[in-house]
Amino acid sequence: MNTPTDLPARLRAALEQADFTYDSVAETLGPLAHAALGRNETTPGLRRTTGGSALETLVRLFLLQTTVPVERAEAALPGLVDELAVAGLLEQSVGEVAARMDVRPYAADEDHFWVVSDLTPGLDGVPQRVGSDYVLGISPASSSLAQLTLRESVGRSLDLGTGCGVQALHLAGHSGRVVATDVNRRALWMTRFNAALNGIADRVEAREGSFFEPVADERFDLIATNPPFVISPATGERLVYRDSGLPGDRVVEDIVRTAPAHLTDGGWCQILANWVIAEDRPWDERLGGWLGEDCDAFVVQREVLDPAAYVELWLKDAGHHPSTGARDVDDYHARYDTWLSWLEEQGVEGVGFGWINLRKHGRTDGPRQELIEWPYDVEQPIAQAIGAWADGVRAEVGPASRLVLREDVLQETQGAPGAEDPATVVLRQQRGLRRARQVDTVEGALAGACDGELTVGQLLDAISDVLDRDPAEIRATYLPSARELVAEGFLTLADA
Ligand SMILES: C[S@@+](CC[C@H](N)C(=O)[O-])C[C@H]1O[C@@H](n2cnc3c(N)ncnc32)[C@H](O)[C@@H]1O
Repeated sequence: MNTPTDLPARLRAALEQADFTYDSVAETLGPLAHAALGRNETTPGLRRTTGGSALETLVRLFLLQTTVPVERAEAALPGLVDELAVAGLLEQSVGEVAARMDVRPYAADEDHFWVVSDLTPGLDGVPQRVGSDYVLGISPASSSLAQLTLRESVGRSLDLGTGCGVQALHLAGHSGRVVATDVNRRALWMTRFNAALNGIADRVEAREGSFFEPVADERFDLIATNPPFVISPATGERLVYRDSGLPGDRVVEDIVRTAPAHLTDGGWCQILANWVIAEDRPWDERLGGWLGEDCDAFVVQREVLDPAAYVELWLKDAGHHPSTGARDVDDYHARYDTWLSWLEEQGVEGVGFGWINLRKHGRTDGPRQELIEWPYDVEQPIAQAIGAWADGVRAEVGPASRLVLREDVLQETQGAPGAEDPATVVLRQQRGLRRARQVDTVEGALAGACDGELTVGQLLDAISDVLDRDPAEIRATYLPSARELVAEGFLTLADA
């Protein structure tokens, strides 16, 4: 696409002038229309944007995907309509202008961006299939990865499979330089356009090529990726934004196996992914087999879908609805049947979704690995808790360590009414991963006493005294518990 180099900057000026920000759009739409648009329904929004202001025109054009009179478009985008049409963002017909790409403000924590992507398909329930080179905009998956990604300042970061460049925009906020790769040229065009639109073109470099190919000999401090991870028989048309063309979950396995070679010591690779849950093997054992020696790994399975629910989800995503006419119903059944029987043949019992966090440890004492199933609500953004995990599993806890109970940890007890002692005691974090851990009397007493004053050894000796137990046996049994409590984030080193 042939784009004047100053077009993104002039578009930005027009968007600023119109106050086309996340908050102003939300205010213009109001909670009802905003929520409806979140469900892909435009009618309430159309009712709220009849005033003709530049802001309302942009909302109607780009978010509600309705045509606007050419003079309104000219007023909202002064001197830009023709050029935006040439660049492929708009389409003009007699007296009217329609959007051909999505332009929207996007806010996440402290970050505020404008993002150009392909139009959201399927507004108002109209079945709409997208082309093979469709470029995804802000999605629940992209937001999840943005919330997972560590935001410490780094030198170089990599956005693998950049799409419209949303991760690259985030990464540019705390990286000296960002490399963004994709095989889809339209995606790379949008990434460059978005970098320029947001005034960070000097820090984002978009490169064409498959996965790590364009960065063959390079290392990064941070890699963030939401790869095309959909697990499908690859019989139909490949939708490049979600299908890798590789069998099963090979794309995720390849990234997990290859990423460590592209990380600096202390560097992170954070992956949002689907993986196969095989009939004959526990999921964590299978994924554990992909992990190498040089990275600590924290894998969190957030959700599991059975094969039928998985097929339905992704057929719907591609606009396959059995909603109109017999042909569509037959087509839907055929696709569903092909996909489901392929999953069955592959021995797929379910599909896991979650986070794979790898941190290159740069040490000689082997990796620390934890693979957990944690489908519960967590505090977002979760990034900080992921960073804390890496510190916790590497903390050196011995009898001389002074530990502190994390401030947000509460104790829950359960038992029969009137009983002298509770039947179970659970420590529960209120923040971060919000982990829970059932503890016995000694662990509970230790956690409660950890205020950074006495050492773990002194506390365990005092507890054995109170319980009239052998101090050597208590130390031998509960020093490992103290280490686990630190690794799981209930306790931290006092001088950390
Ligand atoms: C699910 S989208 C993620 C887009 C964006 N990073 C986000 O977080 O929303 C996956 C991206 O990977 C790209 N992709 C597909 N196959 C690829 C490959 N072999 N190498 C690099 N990128 C690829 C797609 O074009 C698409 O942009």
